[in-house]
Amino acid sequence: MIILATVLVLSNQALSSSVAVGTSCSSSNNRLDPSTHKLLTDCDDRTFCTSPTNGTCQPRQCRRDEFPFGYGQTDPLPPLCGDGTFCADEGSGCQNMVEVGQPCEMNRDEQCAPPKNAMELASSQNFNGAVCLQSTCMFANATIGQRCIIDDTTYVDTGPDGQQSGNRIIRHNCQTPLLYCDLASTQCFLARPVGMECALDYECRSFNCGPQGSCIESAGSAHQVQRWQYAIAIVVVAISMTATGAMLVVIHQRLRLQQHRELREYYYEQVKCVVRPRQKLPSTRLMKFYSLRQSMFALHHRATHRQRQENKDYYTD
Ligand SMILES: *[C@@H]1O[C@H](CO)[C@@H](O)[C@H](O)[C@H]1NC(C)=O
Ligand SMILES: *[C@@H]1O[C@H](CO)[C@@H](O)[C@H](O)[C@H]1NC(C)=O
Repeated sequence: MIILATVLVLSNQALSSSVAVGTSCSSSNNRLDPSTHKLLTDCDDRTFCTSPTNGTCQPRQCRRDEFPFGYGQTDPLPPLCGDGTFCADEGSGCQNMVEVGQPCEMNRDEQCAPPKNAMELASSQNFNGAVCLQSTCMFANATIGQRCIIDDTTYVDTGPDGQQSGNRIIRHNCQTPLLYCDLASTQCFLARPVGMECALDYECRSFNCGPQGSCIESAGSAHQVQRWQYAIAIVVVAISMTATGAMLVVIHQRLRLQQHRELREYYYEQVKCVVRPRQKLPSTRLMKFYSLRQSMFALHHRATHRQRQENKDYYTD
């Protein structure tokens, strides 16, 4: 665990560029990385450029994430922003939320002030019903058949083996999750229920287009057990219980039969008389008595034999 944490911290520091505080910079050089769409500036992950033209890199005034990129485990962190404010990507300080039509940063819906009917429009695909599309704040309030605005972004990530993988994210201002914005016609259409044909995740109400080209349940949703599956489970349990019961009965009967035969043999031996096989067996107490009697006979026989032997020895001496 400690080794893993150390590796992570080291790779984190290796990936983050280091620019000394006070280095001159220009925020006109701010741009997005073409593949990851991360904000790149003249400054590093812990500093921001103080003015639009030539300023200097200064420590960041705020952070957006609980664990911001580029900071070590023991480094002091800039504060998070409170309600109604946000920390811009460069970390220049907390700012008030932006109204509809005002500029916002890519994929930062939470920079936009929510609409009055936020409860109705809110979904997992917007922030309280507000979205930032094409760097402008708007509400996700377009209804069915209306024109809509689309942000179609592919994030490209390069893995450790140099292999690139892409992740296409389509965002729009139709009311979600009921509607989606069609790419070709840029109109809001009804999102498709589970089982319908689809090409991309965002066309499905579950936001999950399966490999077979049809909408499937959203990842992580509870699995629905069908009635026939319940029925099969009940039948299988009943059959196995009955089979177990029947097997125990058979085994028990076999054991009893065996015991019965042993008793019968014992009985024949004890009484040494003719007992017809169908005759009822004596009780256990009677058997014990026979056994005792037999033992006494044996003892007596042995004693008599020894006595005779001694007498013989005495007379021959
Ligand atoms: C600001 O930029 C101008 C023009 O690019 C340059 O002449 C000047 O030296 C710069 N000032 C600082 C403080 O970097
Ligand atoms: C969506 O919100 C914008 C901004 O308030 C408003 O101009 C527009 O009329 C709304 N559209 C619908 C369909 O309510």
